[in-house]
Amino acid sequence: MNSQLQTILNNELNRQLTTLDLIASENFTSKAVREAVSSVAMHKYSEGYPGSRYYEGNEFIDQLENLCIEMSRKIFKLPQNWGVNVQPLAGSNANLIVYNAILNPGDKILSMYLPDGGHLSHGWSYGAKDEQSNFGDAKQKMVYYGGSRKVNIVSKIYNVVQYKTDPSTNLFDYDFIEQLALAEKPRLIITGGTAYPRLINYKRMKEIAHKVDAYYMADIAHEAGLIAGEALESPVGIADVITFTTHKTFRGPKGASIIAKQEIIDLVNKSVIPGMQGGPNNGTIAGITQALFEIDTQEFKSYAAQIVSNAQALAKELLSFDFKLVSGGTDKHLIVIDLRNKEIGGKFAARALNYANIVSNMNTIPYETGSPLNPSGLRIGTPSITTRGMKESEMKQLAQWINDVIAVAKEFASLDFNEFNEKIRNHPAILKIRTEVIEITKKFPLGIK
Ligand SMILES: Cc1ncc(COP(=O)(O)O)c(C=O)c1O
Repeated sequence: MNSQLQTILNNELNRQLTTLDLIASENFTSKAVREAVSSVAMHKYSEGYPGSRYYEGNEFIDQLENLCIEMSRKIFKLPQNWGVNVQPLAGSNANLIVYNAILNPGDKILSMYLPDGGHLSHGWSYGAKDEQSNFGDAKQKMVYYGGSRKVNIVSKIYNVVQYKTDPSTNLFDYDFIEQLALAEKPRLIITGGTAYPRLINYKRMKEIAHKVDAYYMADIAHEAGLIAGEALESPVGIADVITFTTHKTFRGPKGASIIAKQEIIDLVNKSVIPGMQGGPNNGTIAGITQALFEIDTQEFKSYAAQIVSNAQALAKELLSFDFKLVSGGTDKHLIVIDLRNKEIGGKFAARALNYANIVSNMNTIPYETGSPLNPSGLRIGTPSITTRGMKESEMKQLAQWINDVIAVAKEFASLDFNEFNEKIRNHPAILKIRTEVIEITKKFPLGIK
């Protein structure tokens, strides 16, 4: 390998080995997954579907894609009349593929408000019409009609209205979502997001969608591994269509899949090709297949349950340090800390933690009062540290470190960000924690070398 490239990759390997990754959407794959991704499967063009390709020479790639589909069916316990498409190149593409399959341009989508923890690929715009609502005072703030600045392509093509969480609980108010759906009559209702720490009532959302004759799509990008590992309830058989990424709790390569009733999968297949993509990444499909075999073990079920136990243990420890958690805790793998009582913004807190080799991300919180570039929240998650083998007892130590880093960082939180970096980068208390973190990474190695 080129030495300049090799050096970059070695440095990244070393970073991964010596830091604790709390980014809720990341994970570490097995060596077998990485071998599958980088296998000869990546050399092959296979536009089309098994048995019906545009190029010759696909007899083994057909077997690969069929195996991936078969394993997906098994893992998600798909009913006979449901199907799978494993070709989307990423989660955002998978969502766009679904919209293109079942909607017409200009149709209305009802999805979760981005700053509450929704996702850009469910639509996002801002501008003049912010915070308008046709509902009474109590619900005034719980709907978002978007604005003239269409940030995401989904908002450029479709008419996106978003529901927010209840300001007093940070939970979904399903009665309100129903009221909103009845008033707005969307063609598609979406659940799922990046930072909603609680369970979603799939059955209720389906009832709401069907009451207004809308499709219901569950985006389970974050929870796919927890659902596949039977730690969380599955929307299979409830939602009309389900999209997910394969690289988060799922512990596979970066990719995505769509599962749905067969009549929707028939439309999805056309939406993938010729609608939106060329050939799939066959290396990725090989990696997803290997991840599915790993999910199909008792070990993975224990792993999925441990992710949730670790997140709940970490939440409990953080509460004991007077951290405020959005919705008060978590039902799954992620926690959103509302830092306002700690007098430090999310951007500053995440950077200080990074200097202590604890990697997380700044995040908006519901009814955000800070700026998008320095929001009031910090999102943390337990998939990667659970992959390392950490358990509840390590969560106590982790909460202590988070508390200690933030206590130090808070002292410099009113400085300009560059000055803050200078003060905190080599602060003795931060360096001490960094040394301790590196020690624990050796005790819980990744085994990816
Ligand atoms: C809920 C949700 N949907 C879609 C995506 C998009 O996935 P990708 O980054 O693969 O496009 C993400 C990624 O974080 C997500 O959290």
